[in-house]
Formats: sequence, C-alpha cells, structure tokens
Amino acid sequence: MTDLGTRTATPTVRVNGEDVTGEVPARMLLVHYLRENAGRTGVHVGCDSGNCGACTVLLDGAPVKSCMVLAAQASGREVTTVDGLDAPCVPALRRAFVEHAAIQCGYCTPGMLTNATALLRDDPHPDEDAIRAALKGNLCMCTGYQQIVDAVAAAAAEGEEASR
Ligand code: FES
Ligand code: FES
Repeated sequence: MTDLGTRTATPTVRVNGEDVTGEVPARMLLVHYLRENAGRTGVHVGCDSGNCGACTVLLDGAPVKSCMVLAAQASGREVTTVDGLDAPCVPALRRAFVEHAAIQCGYCTPGMLTNATALLRDDPHPDEDAIRAALKGNLCMCTGYQQIVDAVAAAAAEGEEASR
C-alpha cells in the first residue's frame, strides 16, 4: 500500500449533494476519498496515474480524473459521481449504452458516462469528432470504442427528438 505520510487534512467535500468530511492523509487522492470515505465505489480506479479515465467525476460541473486531485484540494467544492449524474440526458445515455453494447466488462463505464453527460449537457448535438474528442481521455479495453461513440450519438439523437 502507498505510504501517504503522517500529515493529515480534514476536507469537507460535497458529494452528490451531501457533505462528506473526516480526517484523512493530506496526500490522499480524491478517487480514494470518494470510494473509502464517501462510499462511492461506482467511481472506478484503473491506473491511479491519470491515464485511463475510469475515475472521472464532475468537480464543480467539469469532468476531472479524480486520481489527479487530492481530496484536500476538493474541500468546499461539489463532486458529482456517476451515481449522482442527474442531467436530462442521463436516462437516454444509460439506455443507449446497454442497447449498443457499449458496456462489456463495465470498468470504463462510469468515466465514459460521466464525460458523455458533460458533453451532451454542453453540446446536445455533437458530431462524431466531438464525441471522440470528449472521450479521448477514457480508455476501454473491450469495445473498440465504436459502440460507445454510437451510444452517445444515439442518446443525443433521442434528446433531439424529444425537444421537437
Ligand atoms: S484511475 Fe484515474 S485516470 Fe486511471
Ligand atoms: S467495457 Fe471493458 S473497459 Fe470498457
């Protein structure tokens, strides 16, 4: 296990609308804080080094890799994890991921869904290039990516249909 040293911090992080606080090692990463202190195990840990995107959450609404942020740096800020996503596009995204076989082992899925949600919130009609650009920091070992891109495009199309 990584030696996190003896210095401590006591962050209070608002996670999916609830304050989570407690003394933790000052160098504890936000991803571990979310899983161990907030019980949000839907946030996955892949590489712990900023490469895979499995740990992506929204920090004050913007997607970040939570292994690249200290828990102490998130104090006083708002974190949304995959299970707290509540944008209008989320039900369509979840459905489309299943229908397009964009979930296989599921390891990348929380990060993919979180980034896709931020994309459709900010750009409800993305083209394929925009979808690929939004997801470029998220690795998937299983799907070859096309199913994920298709799922996001389908969710966007469903949103477009609903807004007519
Ligand atoms: S666990 Fe954070 S990017 Fe891989
Ligand atoms: S579905 Fe397995 S890593 Fe993406």
